[in-house]
Amino acid sequence: MNPPTQPATAVHPALAPSMAYHLITFGCQMNEADSQLMAGLLDQAGWCPVTSVENADLVVINTCAVREKPEQKVYSLLGELRRHKQRRPAATIVVTGCMAQGAGRKLLKRAPHVDAVLGTRCFHHIVEAVDRSRSGEKGIVITDLHDDPAAPRCGPGMERERAPLRAFVPIILGCTNFCSYCIVPYVRGAEASRPQEEVVREVEALVRAGTREVTLLGQNVLAWGRDLPARPGFEALLTFVARVEGLWRLRFLTSHPRDVTPGLIEAMRDLGAACEHIHLPIQAGTDRLLQEMNRGYTTDQYRAVVDQLRAAIPGISITTDIMVGFPGETEEDCEKSLKLYERIEFDAAFTFAYSPRPGTAATQMLDQVPRKTALARLQGVIELQNRITCERNSREVGNLAQVLVEGRAEKGDGLLCGRTRRNKQVVFPGDRDLTGSLTQVRLTRAHLWGFSGQVVA
Ligand code: 5AD
Ligand code: SF4
Repeated sequence: MNPPTQPATAVHPALAPSMAYHLITFGCQMNEADSQLMAGLLDQAGWCPVTSVENADLVVINTCAVREKPEQKVYSLLGELRRHKQRRPAATIVVTGCMAQGAGRKLLKRAPHVDAVLGTRCFHHIVEAVDRSRSGEKGIVITDLHDDPAAPRCGPGMERERAPLRAFVPIILGCTNFCSYCIVPYVRGAEASRPQEEVVREVEALVRAGTREVTLLGQNVLAWGRDLPARPGFEALLTFVARVEGLWRLRFLTSHPRDVTPGLIEAMRDLGAACEHIHLPIQAGTDRLLQEMNRGYTTDQYRAVVDQLRAAIPGISITTDIMVGFPGETEEDCEKSLKLYERIEFDAAFTFAYSPRPGTAATQMLDQVPRKTALARLQGVIELQNRITCERNSREVGNLAQVLVEGRAEKGDGLLCGRTRRNKQVVFPGDRDLTGSLTQVRLTRAHLWGFSGQVVA
């Protein structure tokens, strides 16, 4: 398969400059997928992507509300965009995503130069919102969480001529878990699964257009199907998607530990396309904290799941999310948690300091941990995990790995980059023609970020 020869951001010379848009995405892969969807709809409507705000007649900011920091970044970006609007008064500014959903009309009060606010179930209204704004309408807010959950996902994904080598496919919107610290159930609404046939058709269309690796997306993918009439399990969907001809690799993200079943583990073991990797957020390492977080499992139950996965799928990579500084967390909790993480040996972890989210249960809890303490604890977890990641990667040096080659590495002349089935990054010298292929690479050196390697002739 040949790589795309033209960057996705190139301006079509035939298009009028008044239809140039710039899309900025914060947050998780779900937001990336939502942005791809909006970009597809805008492209279809005749808009053309540009790489900088300066030349944009339309700026779309797709926001994240999971922690305070990305929210602050959006507000400072909106401050800069005020100047853009002064220079280019006809420009349209649209704010979408989790923060837009949470703030709604209040966002317009704080940033009156924003023309439209689009919530997390309303991305499919992007072109309509922009058209209305360009026709002179003020203060457009579209944030209905009950908007048709299937509608936004049908459309451009189906007809594209060329698709990325690796694509994200949302299979379930929203979350109904209500972990006590988390804003997601409030800003993304209740779980709504996409029908199986629709997901399979989208994957087939992507594969026809060049995609070789698909990641099924959801806040908790394992909840897929519970709200559908026949209540199918996630492993059924995994099986159908894995059978799509021409799909080399299948991943899914994120998995709630409570919902890992023997059926899922068997499917992962038996389906050739299913990769040997699972992202399984643990969040905390003591039963009391997990209970306060409303996570629905104990440390023993979590460890049992890890043991089952490792027994069934040798070499499986297990990554996680860890939070520190949750209300009531003591030094003792931290020590116990570190010991548990050391025993489990995650391949990698995303680590966060707890950030109070207005409206969530945890903000009402006593014993909020001072920020300084939380950041010191965060440092401790990061140091431990960095050591473990390096150790685990070192053990793999000398092994052969199958790498899906993504193209030129960012740094280094003549270097290519790609990922193993276990989702580890590999950088190696090689011919550009290898892009898009599965290549056997010997892992020669371990790093925190992955491996250096050499192609095996
Ligand atoms: N503060 C800090 N981290 C959070 N996460 C979710 N909510 C918060 C919060 N209020 C983290 C969790 C989750 C990841 C996506 O973000 O670890 O798994
Ligand atoms: Fe948030 Fe918990 Fe849902 Fe994940 S499972 S999105 S942490 S409420």
